[in-house]
Amino acid sequence: MSYPKLLDIHNATVYRDTKKIFDGFSLSVEQGQSTAIIGPNGAGKSTLLKLLSRELYPVVNDDSHVKILGMERPVLWELREKIGLVSADLQQGFVPEVSGLGVVVSGLHNSIGLFHYQDVTESQVDRGRQVLADLGIENLANRPFRQMSTGQQRRCLLGRALIHNPDHLILDEPTSGLDLNATYHYLNTIRQLLQQEKTILLATHHIHEIPPEIKRVVFIQSGEVVADGNKEEMLTDRWMSQLFELPLSVTESNGFYQVLPA
Ligand SMILES: Nc1ncnc2c1ncn2[C@@H]1O[C@H](COP(=O)(O)OP(=O)(O)OP(=O)(O)O)[C@@H](O)[C@H]1O
Ligand SMILES: [Mg+2]
Repeated sequence: MSYPKLLDIHNATVYRDTKKIFDGFSLSVEQGQSTAIIGPNGAGKSTLLKLLSRELYPVVNDDSHVKILGMERPVLWELREKIGLVSADLQQGFVPEVSGLGVVVSGLHNSIGLFHYQDVTESQVDRGRQVLADLGIENLANRPFRQMSTGQQRRCLLGRALIHNPDHLILDEPTSGLDLNATYHYLNTIRQLLQQEKTILLATHHIHEIPPEIKRVVFIQSGEVVADGNKEEMLTDRWMSQLFELPLSVTESNGFYQVLPA
C-alpha cells in the first residue's frame, strides 16, 4: 500500500502581501521522512511551512499544485488533527491570560486561547493534563501564558500541538530564545517523538537543533531549493559556507552538528 505524500508542492507561486516569495517552487516530503529546512534569514523557510499549515496559499494555476496528505483542498480541522504546529508567530499571537492547561486544550479547538463560549469537557481537561504530564510541565497548568518564560511558553505550545496526538509536526525554529536547559528538554522531547515515528518538518538556521534522527536536509536560499540530500553530505564546510556565504567549519558529535566561523 502506498501512502500519499505529507507534502507535495509542484511549481508553486506564492506571494506575501505584494511580494513574490516563491516562483516555480517544488518540493515533496514523504510521510515518515523527517526533514530539516535550512537557510539564512528571509530565505523562505517559514513561508514554506505556512503553505503546509495553510496559513498561506499558492496562486491558482493549471500547471501547479500544493497537496497535503494527497489533498489539494484539505479540510482545515482534519489537517489540524493530523499535523501539529509550533512557531514563534503562534507564540506572539497567543492570548496572554490563558493558563498552561488552557493553552494545551486550545489545540482541540484550534484557537489561540480558550474563551468562555467554548465548551470544554472533562475528558478534554484530562487529556490536557496528561499532555502536560508527558512533557513534565504540570507545574505550568495554572500559570497564565504571559507569566511564563519563552521556553515555558514554547513547551506549552508543543503540548498544544501534541494534544491530538498528530502523526506529523511542523516546528519553525523551535529552540530560538531557549536557554541550554530548555533546549535540552525540548530536543529530548522531539527525539522521543521521532522515535515514535512521527514526521517532523523543522525549519531552522541553527544546525545544532537538528536531532540525529532527522536524516534529510533541504537548503533554501532566496525562495529556492538550492540543495537537497542526506544530512552527512549536506552539513559540510563547503555546503554550509556556500549557503550562508561565509567561511564556515562544521563539526559533528554523537549525531549532532555544530557550525563555527572557519
Ligand atoms: N507579510 C509579509 N509581506 C511581505 N513580505 C514578507 C512578509 N513576510 C515575510 N516576507 C518576506 O518573505 C521572505 C521569506 O520570509 P520567511 O519568513 O519565509 O523567511 P525565513 O526563511 O523563515 O527567515 P527567518 O530565518 O528570518 O525566519 C523574506 O524576504 C521576507 O521579507
Ligand atoms: Mg522564519
